[in-house]
Amino acid sequence: MTDAPLPLGGFTIWLTGMSGAGKSTITGILERELRDRGVPLEVLDGDVVRTHLTKGLGFSREDRDENVRRVGWVCELLTRHDVVAIAAVISPYRAVRDELRALIGRFVEVFVDAPLEVLAERDVKGLYRKAHAGEIENFTGVSDPYEPPLNPEVVCRTDGTETPAASAAKVIARLEELGYL
Ligand SMILES: Nc1ncnc2c1ncn2[C@@H]1O[C@H](COP(=O)(O)OP(=O)(O)OP(=O)(O)O)[C@@H](O)[C@H]1O
Ligand SMILES: [Mg+2]
Repeated sequence: MTDAPLPLGGFTIWLTGMSGAGKSTITGILERELRDRGVPLEVLDGDVVRTHLTKGLGFSREDRDENVRRVGWVCELLTRHDVVAIAAVISPYRAVRDELRALIGRFVEVFVDAPLEVLAERDVKGLYRKAHAGEIENFTGVSDPYEPPLNPEVVCRTDGTETPAASAAKVIARLEELGYL
């Protein structure tokens, strides 16, 4: 017997929500906080992933599901090897998110939630204006569905109710409650 502490093990933090809801912003804060605690981690951000791992995939339901499955597959590998994976992808379809929950097991779903009016108003990337003008097809929330999680581990209200720091703190608190940190 040894009295060395047990490794806490990997887990996946899966941030889902519409464009501009705050997934990347919260991820950045979580990344800093977890690195400060010495936690080994990797971030898979939708925008970055689509230029490499899932390059060439589009925005049909089939391609979106494939995008999410590939990200989830990497998260499963990382989790299994005691690395924390943080995925920040719109992942609009509930069924494939639930599939990943079953695959990964140690899966913390964070619903990053703000109403469409707020997202269109702040329009961080100017995409809502384009989507409303019909310049972008299959835009989540405008011309494509978003299926909110029914039972997420965390809900972050990013419509102005919470600061980004407060949203990230909610995630950390839940991880501690679940015994992952
Ligand atoms: N509580 C909050 N948490 C996160 N972001 C917030 C919050 N409140 C306001 N915001 C603002 O919302 C915006 C979120 O933009 P961000 O790029 O993080 O969205 P995203 O979900 O990653 O979008 P995309 O899917 O297009 O990558 C930022 O301008 C941020 O300052
Ligand atoms: Mg983002």
